Amino acid sequence: MEENIETLQKSGRVIHPPAELKAQAYIQDYDKAYKESIADPEKFWDGIAKELHWFSPWHTILEWNYPWAKWFLGGTCNISYNCLDRHVQSPRKNKVAVIWVGENGEERIFTYAELYRQVNKCANALKSLGLQKGDRVTIYLPKIPEQIVAMLACARIGLIHSVIYSGFSAPALKSRILDAESKLVITADVGYDRAKTIALKPVVDEAIADCPTVEKVVVVRREKNGPALSSDKEIDWEDWLTGQSTSCEALQLDSETPLYILYTSGTTGKPKGVVHVHGGYMVGTYITTKYVFDLKDEDVYFCVADPGWVTGHSYIVYGPLLNGGTILTAEGKPDYPNPGRWWDLIERYGVSIFYTTPTAIRLLMKYGEEWPGKYDLSSLRILGSVGEPINPEAWEWFYRVTGSSKPIMDTWWQTETGSILVTPLPCVPLKPGSATRPFLGIEADVVDREGKSIAQGGGFAVIKKPWPSMMRTIHNDPDRYLLYWNTIPGCYTAGDVCHKDEDGYLWFMGRADDVVKVAGNRIGTAEVESALVSHEAVVEAAVIGKPHKTAGEMIKAFVILKQGHTETPDMIKHLQDHVLQELGKIAVPKEVEIVSSLPKTRSGKIMRRVLKAKELGQDPGDISTLDE
Ligand code: WT7
Repeated sequence: MEENIETLQKSGRVIHPPAELKAQAYIQDYDKAYKESIADPEKFWDGIAKELHWFSPWHTILEWNYPWAKWFLGGTCNISYNCLDRHVQSPRKNKVAVIWVGENGEERIFTYAELYRQVNKCANALKSLGLQKGDRVTIYLPKIPEQIVAMLACARIGLIHSVIYSGFSAPALKSRILDAESKLVITADVGYDRAKTIALKPVVDEAIADCPTVEKVVVVRREKNGPALSSDKEIDWEDWLTGQSTSCEALQLDSETPLYILYTSGTTGKPKGVVHVHGGYMVGTYITTKYVFDLKDEDVYFCVADPGWVTGHSYIVYGPLLNGGTILTAEGKPDYPNPGRWWDLIERYGVSIFYTTPTAIRLLMKYGEEWPGKYDLSSLRILGSVGEPINPEAWEWFYRVTGSSKPIMDTWWQTETGSILVTPLPCVPLKPGSATRPFLGIEADVVDREGKSIAQGGGFAVIKKPWPSMMRTIHNDPDRYLLYWNTIPGCYTAGDVCHKDEDGYLWFMGRADDVVKVAGNRIGTAEVESALVSHEAVVEAAVIGKPHKTAGEMIKAFVILKQGHTETPDMIKHLQDHVLQELGKIAVPKEVEIVSSLPKTRSGKIMRRVLKAKELGQDPGDISTLDE
């Protein structure tokens, strides 16, 4: 871990925010605001929660039964009401809520009033199927507006959505449907990727073949001559909404009512269903969007995430809509049809806030500065980065090509944290590569294994007090929830290695566990290993993450073949295809090496650390437990 930290190259540069930007920001003095918020976090969160609409007030701000938290007890609210009704009843009624651009250039625009009508129709359609508060709905859609509509419609009537990224394959989708026991799956006939048509409906058909809880499948049909819907389980989205009323009252929900389950990877083969609730999650996503991006009514906010991941949940859908923002969302890749794709959208729609990822920046860097140079990017005022550490080189490039005056908010957080926890605000001096300081009300620190705070240097990232948008549990697996709070005594362990510098700035260095971040996507090495060993030719597999120039990290697999199977280029391709079938494209190992043995402890545990050190030509450290 120590070497890891030492290799971090810091540019040593400190960038001060433009005076004009600072002067108009919600928060102009971070140190003062932070000190106040931390002196009495409950009071701070109480004040923020009051900016939103509650049907009835809470009597207790926080009930903290280590490590179980409840926020705003006794309060009733609805996040969908706060995203829609609050604005529809205001001058924002006809303001643009969502601008969607399809991969083929198609444009769809929803005002708040129109989004409200669509969501209400969808909520009524959900009701027409007899779905009840607490039922789970799996949303397996490409990045189209129906994804947003379906999420808000579920929330409106207390259904729990489980959005699954549309790149997951049938077995991965199936295990997530089974774990959530969803009654309904909402999907589309196809998605598009670089003009290629990706069939989604057959993936759902395969996945639900033995999912006994699934009663209906709703299909958004994008292709003119798409597949006919066959079984009586299947409903066309258009038909489903036709004739439904455009009004549907939002249910008044207890603040702790589950809003969604979102599956993410951990250190075992089974994904974790992270559970978030209406009240606290609403407060966290609302205030971080407002303060971090300084989101104002005039802004056009562009977040490149997919609602299949938490960034899309919190910073395409909920956070920006809670603030009455105008959101731009675009289907497709940053370099299709050409590397000017996003710069063109920024110019065309006058984007002022642009939230993207280090992997995308590094990809665009490869195409050169002439691409951003072709466009007028002067509408931009604030930039954001998320999902993985941003190396100073990529940071500096992003800063330079956008005009050397738009501060980059390097936001650190996780699926489990619900909202951004460590981040600059527009008034905070920046150091390229550092996520800087904790958000208001958040006590983040770097500690050793015993939980002792490290004044300066490397250690583990922890959060010392509960916060409103924290996950409440892992669906069906509360013991796995406990692990987050039992690993290091007295605090929430994020699983990240972090360095604290002389100014108390935090530098997140990567995962401390068996989780790999490929292009910002979180992949458990155990999941890939179990996919590999499910192949008939494989006895054993070990998977590690390896540095990669664009994606940050890549997956490398070491595989032992069963007797009678031999290594051929075909075999490697075979194994990669197998992982593609089992999990999906994002989990496919870029490199597969056939080996005859794997380093193990005497008790038989594979020592991935040793494999990794060998692969990278590093010192493996303590190998006293190694068997051979
Ligand atoms: C992990 C969480 C955060 C939403 C998208 C990913 C890494 C995230 C940063 C950052 C360095 C970062 C961490 C974290 N990470 N943001 N700004 N700097 N690392 O959510 O899939 O739950 O992954 O992403 O390792 O633990 P996620």
